[in-house]
Amino acid sequence: MNKLSIEDLALRSKRVFIRVDFNVPLEGVCVSDDTRIRETLPTLRTAMARGARLVIASHLGRPKGKPDPVYSLRPVASKLSQLLDRPVDFAIDCVGAEALTKSKSLTDGGLLLLENVRYYKEEEANDEAFAQRLAALCDGLFVCDAFGSAHRAHASVVGITRFVQQAAAGKLMEKELRYLGLALASPPRPFIAILGGAKVSDKIEVIENLMKLADAMLIGGAMAYTFFKAQGLPVGKSLVEDDKLELASRLLADAKHRNFRFLLPMDHVLGREVKAGTPTETGDVTATPADWMGLDIGPKTVAAFSEEIARARTVVWNGPMGVFELPEFDKGTLGLARAVAAATSRGATTIVGGGDSVAAVHKCGLAAQISHISTGGGAAIEFLGGRKLPGVEALTNR
Ligand code: 3PG
Ligand code: MG
Repeated sequence: MNKLSIEDLALRSKRVFIRVDFNVPLEGVCVSDDTRIRETLPTLRTAMARGARLVIASHLGRPKGKPDPVYSLRPVASKLSQLLDRPVDFAIDCVGAEALTKSKSLTDGGLLLLENVRYYKEEEANDEAFAQRLAALCDGLFVCDAFGSAHRAHASVVGITRFVQQAAAGKLMEKELRYLGLALASPPRPFIAILGGAKVSDKIEVIENLMKLADAMLIGGAMAYTFFKAQGLPVGKSLVEDDKLELASRLLADAKHRNFRFLLPMDHVLGREVKAGTPTETGDVTATPADWMGLDIGPKTVAAFSEEIARARTVVWNGPMGVFELPEFDKGTLGLARAVAAATSRGATTIVGGGDSVAAVHKCGLAAQISHISTGGGAAIEFLGGRKLPGVEALTNR
């Protein structure tokens, strides 16, 4: 990467502002999934070991520019302290006198977590004066480890870089860009892209970009039905984006024209409603009855897609194959998760990005058998769609 790394910074006895993405799910005051916190530990431990004074900032949720205790980062401070087995101080305001005093009383290797930066509307507005107030909490050194927020041109991600001497990538940021960048730049082939989820509209750029780069694309999830309807197949009550039918036709025609292997499901699991315990049917996609909807890919499709995945040397997967939250409709997603894990063990580089597919991989206990699980949802999608991420672009060039 042509950007500075945390390894390039002289950190000893310096206050360094570290932007992380601690936008984690909470249940009351408990962090219910600490993945994003654990993933930043290599960066935090590096900074601590090198004698930096860590001023850590994040957003949590969308508090709409004013303080809201529901979105407080205080529970995250406790979690972080527990994971590092070190005290973590907390500032109840991310800017101002208290934060400043606390940052100045840090000792080498000490940690201070700031309250949610989105308690200020200036954060999302990328306000200059606010960015400057954040920068006042460090000694000219900024590290961005918030890959999950790198698609947001906000003050603590982008604005602050103008008011520090050096803005460097943290270790998680580097790891994310290394894996996702590999898929876009020099993927070992065959390179298979698996795309699922509810909507074509969320993934247009990813589909278009990966159709240029991959050797085949496997489509599942509700988005398949927009393609089926565009081809004139019956879709029953399945979820379809009627305003995307033309786009779907164009993508199908383009794939055909270029001889690109664009693979849609051949069979599926149907239900009359999205509900646990609902009766199901399995059948071919050419014969969907009028009052049923497709809620998972079927066993023939799992077998065919798994064969494709078995040949791959690079796999990128975004979006589940069905309503995997319900046991009736989780076989497709879990089947592909097993195929991707098996490909990894045969030496393929496998990358899973986007909240739902990540949850699916965790659900079947296969997370450790995937080369890289991205901490980014929107950021991973924008990156795979070929966009530049403002939070990466703003870092200091080497
Ligand atoms: C995420 O969870 O996708 C990131 O933390 C960004 O959050 P946002 O979508 O609220 O900007
Ligand atoms: Mg989001």
